Amino acid sequence: FPLKPYNTFGIDVKAKLFARFDTVAELQELLQMPELRKETKLILGGGSNLLFTKDFDGLVLQNGIKGVEKVAEDEEHVYLKAGAGEVWHEFVLYTLSQNLGGLENLSLIPGTVGAAPLQNIGAYGVELKDVFHELEAVHIETAEVRSFDNETCRFGYRESVFKNELKGQYIVTHVTFRLHKKHSLNTSYGAIKTTLEEMQVQEPTIHHVSAAVCHIRQSKLPDPKQIGNAGSFFKNPEIPLSQFEELQKQYPSIPSYPVSETTVKVPAGWLIEQCGWKGKVIGNYGVHKNQALVLVNYGGASGEDIRKLAFEVIASVEQQFGIRLHPEVNIM
Ligand code: EPU
Repeated sequence: FPLKPYNTFGIDVKAKLFARFDTVAELQELLQMPELRKETKLILGGGSNLLFTKDFDGLVLQNGIKGVEKVAEDEEHVYLKAGAGEVWHEFVLYTLSQNLGGLENLSLIPGTVGAAPLQNIGAYGVELKDVFHELEAVHIETAEVRSFDNETCRFGYRESVFKNELKGQYIVTHVTFRLHKKHSLNTSYGAIKTTLEEMQVQEPTIHHVSAAVCHIRQSKLPDPKQIGNAGSFFKNPEIPLSQFEELQKQYPSIPSYPVSETTVKVPAGWLIEQCGWKGKVIGNYGVHKNQALVLVNYGGASGEDIRKLAFEVIASVEQQFGIRLHPEVNIM
């Protein structure tokens, strides 16, 4: 079964088996079929955070659970429950149309609602966990449904329990968000401020912030429909403050964000750019010209090509800065 249309990197690989489910009951039925029990399973959302390096010798399950419903409301919040197969940005647009705040900074992130909690998606000062209420997931072994709240999801920077202790054990079917009727905008991120100024907005609303975020993303990040990519390929590394201060002596312009009193985060994009990779083209793949954190497939590259490039980037950053980058993308 061809997987090329199902991964935003556009890697041409095949899966042994493929099935799509549109309801929790259909998923449970699939999981309980004796002939499928032994198969290794991969759940596909938008396929926007993975890199296939070879054919997948197992069952690819596509989550097609749709629908958005209001499940509760209080004075300040509306709780919306969305099917995991909903396209993330379409869901964000729906919340904006209902004038509900909370997701505007997360506009235009590729992928699905169900994939969002797995890596606690984040952008422009907001993370999914800030508006997350709970999720429902089906256990692959037993087919039982279980709920997870903010605490049991154990969210971190691009992390959750589903990438760690419970990796490969659950399939998210629904996510409930706690959205705000009264909005508190997060415009702390420099680029949002400047874009709103350029837009000459006096009193910004969630709609303006969403428009600003879309504008910034479109100017920096390649559209996977045009150029294969999976967004940031690496996570921004956290390093000890002491190491940062040493680096600062040699590289006075090195940017950083505080994490705690003893650690800072350094933008991986900056490190990669300093090593001369930004805009580099190697045949039909390379490093994006506007954002060095993004590896791109111009068409026809193999997953192995891109993985090799990723490890060359890691090695050169480690050699020049003594910092080891870690992929954010799932390498299969
Ligand atoms: N920078 C460079 N060169 C580059 C790219 C970045 O020098 O080619 C430096 C600049 O100093 C810039 C700073 O890095 O000011 C930050 O860059 P940017 O605002 O583009 O953000 P990022 O840290 O590179 C992170 C997320 C993005 C998210 C943006 C905005 C990660 C791994 N990536 O990137 O998320 O959109 O912040 O909040 O945390 C994704 O995860 O797929 C993703 C795109």
